[in-house]
Amino acid sequence: MTVGQGLKTVVLISGNGTNLQAIIDAQQAGQLPVSFASVLSDCPQANGLERARTAGISTVVVDYRSCADRREFNRKLYDELGTLQPELIVLAGFMRIISDELTEHYQGRMLNIHPSLLPKYPGLHTYRRVLETGDAWHGSTVHFVTPQLDAGPPIIQYRVRIHDAETEQSLAARVQTGEYIIYPRTIEWIAERRLDLRDDTVWLDGQALRQPVIVDEEHAQPL
Ligand code: GAR
Repeated sequence: MTVGQGLKTVVLISGNGTNLQAIIDAQQAGQLPVSFASVLSDCPQANGLERARTAGISTVVVDYRSCADRREFNRKLYDELGTLQPELIVLAGFMRIISDELTEHYQGRMLNIHPSLLPKYPGLHTYRRVLETGDAWHGSTVHFVTPQLDAGPPIIQYRVRIHDAETEQSLAARVQTGEYIIYPRTIEWIAERRLDLRDDTVWLDGQALRQPVIVDEEHAQPL
């Protein structure tokens, strides 16, 4: 059963689901005009599935380990999404690489959040890598998904200044606090038809974005 009213959304998760929770909380607070068709995970043990059930949202598991290879996994994922018919797909800590066929099919309708200031640090272990490099800033990016991993057009970034005594844990906690602001905000823009992707350009409120919207930790406002 679809929960809520508005843009029909499927959220894909692999783990804890704290971003999913922030999106559910915003929807339940009446701040997000979306409905949840399902929460889908590649991992049956993902904690986020429990968060979905608690919110009354139906869940689907496409178990990566029960698939012969990545191709079979992607075909099952494609079929499940085809059945669900989402208007928007939200990758919220979904840690599998999605096929080109799928990303092309849903281009402009699929979002991802990645814990770095893209194009810096695509891939894994972003907190460790940024601390090793000694950058002054880190953050998280919401972007449209394209076949190139972590390289689709960026929409919004949450930015934090790295402190002297920063650890991977402290940095992750600060960045994730910002993810709970920028991800619901992006979904709200899409649901209100204020944001879309045309060719490779992001449009927000009738303006082509030359760079992502920046939200600095010091000035961040809740949704
Ligand atoms: C989030 O911090 C997100 O940025 C990251 O996984 C975390 C999931 O947390 N995504 C990626 O690394 C994707 N490349 P959550 O399950 O608690 O929302």
